[in-house]
Amino acid sequence: MKSKAVRIDRHGGPEELKIVEVEVGDPGPGEIRIRHKAVGLNFIDTYQRSGLYPFAMPLQLGMEASGVVEAVGEGVTHLKAGDRAAYASPPPGSYCELRVMPAKTVCRLPDAISFETGAAMMLKGLTTQYLLRRTLPAEGLQPGDFIVFHAAAGGVGLIACQWAKALGLQLIGTAGTDAKCQLALAHGAAHAINYSKENFAERVKEITGGKGVKVVYDSVGKDTFEGSLACLRPFGLLAVFGNGSGPVSAFNLGLLAKGSYYVTRPTLFTHIATRETTQAMADELFAIVESGAVKIPIDQRYPLEDVQQAHRDLEARKTTGCTILTL
Ligand SMILES: NC(=O)c1ccc[n+]([C@@H]2O[C@H](COP(=O)([O-])OP(=O)(O)OC[C@H]3O[C@@H](n4cnc5c(N)ncnc54)[C@H](OP(=O)(O)O)[C@@H]3O)[C@@H](O)[C@H]2O)c1
Repeated sequence: MKSKAVRIDRHGGPEELKIVEVEVGDPGPGEIRIRHKAVGLNFIDTYQRSGLYPFAMPLQLGMEASGVVEAVGEGVTHLKAGDRAAYASPPPGSYCELRVMPAKTVCRLPDAISFETGAAMMLKGLTTQYLLRRTLPAEGLQPGDFIVFHAAAGGVGLIACQWAKALGLQLIGTAGTDAKCQLALAHGAAHAINYSKENFAERVKEITGGKGVKVVYDSVGKDTFEGSLACLRPFGLLAVFGNGSGPVSAFNLGLLAKGSYYVTRPTLFTHIATRETTQAMADELFAIVESGAVKIPIDQRYPLEDVQQAHRDLEARKTTGCTILTL
C-alpha cells in the first residue's frame, strides 16, 4: 500500500519539508496500521525539523493524529480493525495518510469526539493533563490557587485555560498580543498579561498581592526563565516544558535559593511510557472534553500539502489554539 507522507532528508527550515510517497506494510507484533482522518501540528515538530531535537535522516515528521485502525499485529488486544483511534506518540511519522506504528499509546477515540478534535487534542490535551494534574508543588494545588501559564493563547495554552478553570484554579496567562490575551480570558484565564509589553513577573506579584504563585508552567523557555522564577512564592515549582524562544541551558543554581524553589523539565513521553498510564490520562482527557468543560479550539486547518506554511505560521507566532493538517 502507498501513502502520501511528509519527510525531511536533513534538518533545517520549513523548506526541508517534502511530500513523498512511501510504502506501508503490515503491522508486526505490538503494532497497528492506521488510516488517518486528520493530523495534529505541534511545536515539537518544529524542533524535530530544525534539529534542536536531532534525529537520524530521513525522518517522517509528526507526533499526533486520529483515524481508523485497519489492521492489528500479534499481541494487540486493546484495539481491533475498524476502531476509531487517536494518539500522541513517538516515533515521529504522523504527517501521512497511512502508517504502521506501535499500538501501546494509541487509544480508542470515543464516538462523541470527532476525528478532527481527536487529532488536535491528544498531544496538547495529554500534556495539559500531566501538567495540571501530575506536575504539582509539594503541597498540591487547591481551588482558588494562582498559577502562571505562559503562551496561554496557544494550543496547549487554551486547553490549559479551560482545564484550570474547571479545577477552580486562577490561571494567570501570558501571551504576545492584546488579542491573544483576550482569547485566553475568553477561555477561562482569570488574568492575562501581554508579556511583550509588560513585565510579567511584576504584574504577577501585583495580582497576587505580593505573594507569588505556587507553580509556573513555562513553555517559552529562554526568554521567560528568570522572570518565571521571580513569580514564585517560597517553595514554588517552575515546570519548564518547552523551548518556544529557545532552550534554557546552564543556569545559576543560586537563583533557586531565593525561595527554596523547585525546577523540573517534564516531557509527555515520560508520562505516557506505559499503556496503563496513557489510557488513564486519556480517559481523563476524554471525560473533560465530553463534559463540555474543555472545548478543543481548532483555529487553523492546512491541507497536508501546505505543511511548510503551517510550520512557518506556528514559528512566527501567527497561530492561536490548535492546528490540524487535513487529508
Ligand atoms: N514537554 C512536553 O511534554 C510538551 C508537550 C507539548 C508541548 N510542549 C511545548 O509547549 C509549547 C506549546 O506547544 P504548542 O504546540 O501548543 O504551540 P503554541 O503554544 O500554539 O505555539 C507556541 C507559542 O509560543 C509562544 N512564543 C513565545 N516566544 C516565542 C518565540 N520566540 N517563537 C515562537 N513562539 C514563541 C507564542 O505565543 P505568544 O505569541 O503568545 O508568545 C507561540 O504562539 C511549545 O513550547 C512545546 O514545545 C511541551
